Amino acid sequence: ETGRDVADILHNGKDGETVSATGWVRSVRKQKRVAFAAISDGSTVDSLQAVMSPEDAAKLSHGTAVEFAGEWKASVGSKQSHELQVSATEVLGENDAESNPLQPKYQTPEFLRSIPHLRPRIASNAIILRLRSQLIASLTDFFNKQDFVQCHTPIITSSDCEGAGEVFTISSNDPKNTTEQDGATAETPVEHFFKTPKYLTVSAQLHLEALAQAVSKVWTLSPTFRAEQSDTARHLSEFYMLEAEMCFTSDLNDIMDLVENMMRTAVLTLQKRPVRAELLTAKGTAPKEEREDGKSITADMLQQRWDGIASLDWPRITYAEAIDLLKDAQTSGSATFAFDPSYRSGLQAEHERYVASNVGKGKPVFVTDYPRLQKPFYMPPSMSTKNSKGSPDTVACFDLLVPDLCELAGGSIREHRSEELLGAMREKGIAGKDLEWYQDLRKYGSVPHGGFGLGFDRLICYLAGITNVRDVVAFPRWYGRADC
Ligand code: 4AD
Ligand code: MG
Repeated sequence: ETGRDVADILHNGKDGETVSATGWVRSVRKQKRVAFAAISDGSTVDSLQAVMSPEDAAKLSHGTAVEFAGEWKASVGSKQSHELQVSATEVLGENDAESNPLQPKYQTPEFLRSIPHLRPRIASNAIILRLRSQLIASLTDFFNKQDFVQCHTPIITSSDCEGAGEVFTISSNDPKNTTEQDGATAETPVEHFFKTPKYLTVSAQLHLEALAQAVSKVWTLSPTFRAEQSDTARHLSEFYMLEAEMCFTSDLNDIMDLVENMMRTAVLTLQKRPVRAELLTAKGTAPKEEREDGKSITADMLQQRWDGIASLDWPRITYAEAIDLLKDAQTSGSATFAFDPSYRSGLQAEHERYVASNVGKGKPVFVTDYPRLQKPFYMPPSMSTKNSKGSPDTVACFDLLVPDLCELAGGSIREHRSEELLGAMREKGIAGKDLEWYQDLRKYGSVPHGGFGLGFDRLICYLAGITNVRDVVAFPRWYGRADC
């Protein structure tokens, strides 16, 4: 019988039946009279044990691609209920065991990040690929059911949505644009392919807003780029952002409700799938030295995290409340911070971490209504929106904070009034800078609306209990590094 993957054989194999299994050798043990090979095809975190003669095993090493045929029989070993008694072995792809960088021993996460083309062959990395794929399917389904239209927004843009100056600028190598052909001197600046400088997008938000003003509810999951020189476990230079935008609301609670329901759906889907059990085994979790507290996240902790997400009603506190709480924690000695919490200087990562653990108590935490000075131009004053808890100097926005990763998502109501938007843009010094089209949206039937952006790679870290975002992206790019 062919066409069965390892997961299927392990879960549904019948005692005594003839099976054929394909995969890659993950370990070989040779004894005097008998040899054991574990093979995996990435369909499950578990590998299938094959039993054969030492002669058959001679040509196998960690990495060889093989097909085994034989009988599915009860195992005497304690690690598996059944094993494959091999009668025929075919090597499908030889492995150069000596030069293979991936060795059957502990290899540090840092080393593994230098071989991203081979890393997914490790069971715990393969799970993440499947988890990502399943999450996308379940979230697509969620947005479909809510009548959100999935849209594709551009990667190449003329604007810096966040105004943080963290854009990668596009340069063209088009020979037509070289100075020689123009007969100009070497000092003449190279002409831009698009005539003026363009950037890789930092967020799809502005374009999504344009589309929302046509079909009311939109979402996208698309690549975003940040030229941030942040060498941390949470920052990538290229990452996927899940963004949604909806019209006809000026209540920030509507946006937060959407985030809660979306994440609840993701967790409920996860709970129903084999990937759940796999993530909850030791093989599915990241090596412990990667975590800041030095402890592995246990199966119980992960399950509690999922339950917390699925139970909804996550705490919502204002920025001002968060600052008070941090000051109190410092005064009472229950926390020590490198940076003193202050209303003016904003929340540092250590502050966010404290709020996430101590206010959230197992649930993510929304912090709302930040001072307008700390936020981008498109956020309206809290007081101009519905059911606001802000004050005159704050804007209607939230950050969603979770343990380990700090900020998982950010969202806001958008300033839909033309004059007010222009005023805010002038204040930030960006009026008239390739954003005329965005100002246009406020002239022709502009309605109150809002949305959010969630770091999809951070979400995967959070749901899988992995601390470093570099370990959930197949080919991660970060400050100074873009291997293969
Ligand atoms: O908070 P950010 O910068 O918000 C925006 O860009 C909004 N325009 C989104 C919107 O409202 N449509 O980014 C949103 C999220 C963050 O909360 C974080 O989870 C993630 O994107 N993120 C990163 N993830 C990995 N690496 C980075 N360098 C990231 N920068 C932001
Ligand atoms: Mg943010």
